[in-house]
Amino acid sequence: MNSQILGTGSYVPDQVLTNAELERMVETSDVWIRERTGIRERRIAKSGQPCSDLATRAGRQALAAAKLSASDLDLILVATCTGDSPLPATACLVQHHLGATRAAACDVGAACCGFLYALTIADAYVRTGARAVLVIGAEVMSVITDWTDRNTCVLFGDGAGAVVVGPTNDDVGIQAVRLHANGQLAHVIEVPGGGSRYPASEHIIQNKLPYIKMRGNETFKIAVKTMEEAVREVLAVTNVSIEQIDLFIPHQANIRILQAVGQRLGLPMNKTVINLDRLGNTSAASIPLAIDEAVRNGRIRKGMRVLIAAFGAGLTWGAGLIRW
Ligand SMILES: CC(C)(COP(=O)(O)OP(=O)(O)OC[C@H]1O[C@@H](n2cnc3c(N)ncnc32)[C@H](O)[C@@H]1OP(=O)(O)O)[C@@H](O)C(=O)NCCC(=O)NCCS
Repeated sequence: MNSQILGTGSYVPDQVLTNAELERMVETSDVWIRERTGIRERRIAKSGQPCSDLATRAGRQALAAAKLSASDLDLILVATCTGDSPLPATACLVQHHLGATRAAACDVGAACCGFLYALTIADAYVRTGARAVLVIGAEVMSVITDWTDRNTCVLFGDGAGAVVVGPTNDDVGIQAVRLHANGQLAHVIEVPGGGSRYPASEHIIQNKLPYIKMRGNETFKIAVKTMEEAVREVLAVTNVSIEQIDLFIPHQANIRILQAVGQRLGLPMNKTVINLDRLGNTSAASIPLAIDEAVRNGRIRKGMRVLIAAFGAGLTWGAGLIRW
């Protein structure tokens, strides 16, 4: 038995933050941002709009697309690094909002790679008998962004994407996933403050510790190398060649990262789904947002081989192959 994606959904906040507006906030330019990252604009959640709100909206849409009701769900997983609060899990709030009273619920913390990790857990749960798992990637990155740091504030955006995963006896669905992590490189991308190491205090606010710190250039090089390696692993284990891939849906961090990965793999850019130009880097939400868009605009069709790959803080990375 395989698990397959039964329905998809997404939600992005209405408020658009353009590069021109960022020019007025930090020393940067529209040209620099577009040329170095590929990003034109991003969405920002309303003040006080929590992650669970974005996640619930995307989840509700995915359920409708799967033609299931909340009471059908066995498990809800929310991949996020910007949950409503340290506890309870944002997934439990989503469970309540949806009225999914039968469903177990927890969050998955693997930063930008979180959706791929959560999808892997959902796949395993379905293979042990679950009928429906809701997997959501949802982020309010704007609350952990230091809006005075031009190195990071131009990159991120808010949003949520969701898929419902269920069983199939056909030879479709999730064919293979490979996940990796290297905690030795934890310092490359981090939000140092706000947890048990540097708990909430005036000191950590003054030193901007609850915000993203990133070594951009190092991140860039590792991202290209590890995503290529993970994709090659998945292709080898599924015995699928790169030419047989119909669509590539990578985590949306930087257009130059996606171009470099595509080039190394021999995958033309017209097979790569891009949303970062309009949404920026939405962390765990970027892949399910791209999947939902590709399903709705007909770019993903039945029978297609869809490759996904992600990279994020941890460091974490991986790839997966889905037969639609
Ligand atoms: C962040 C990133 C866009 C920077 O691009 P880059 O080509 O690597 O640029 P560098 O870091 O080498 O910086 C080049 C210069 O641009 C400057 N710069 C950085 N951000 C800038 C901005 N928003 N506007 C203008 N200049 C900027 C730097 O200060 C540096 O100036 P200096 O040479 O005077 O010190 C790029 O490294 C990146 O996208 N990395 C991956 C980030 C990522 O994906 N993170 C999430 C992983 S899930």
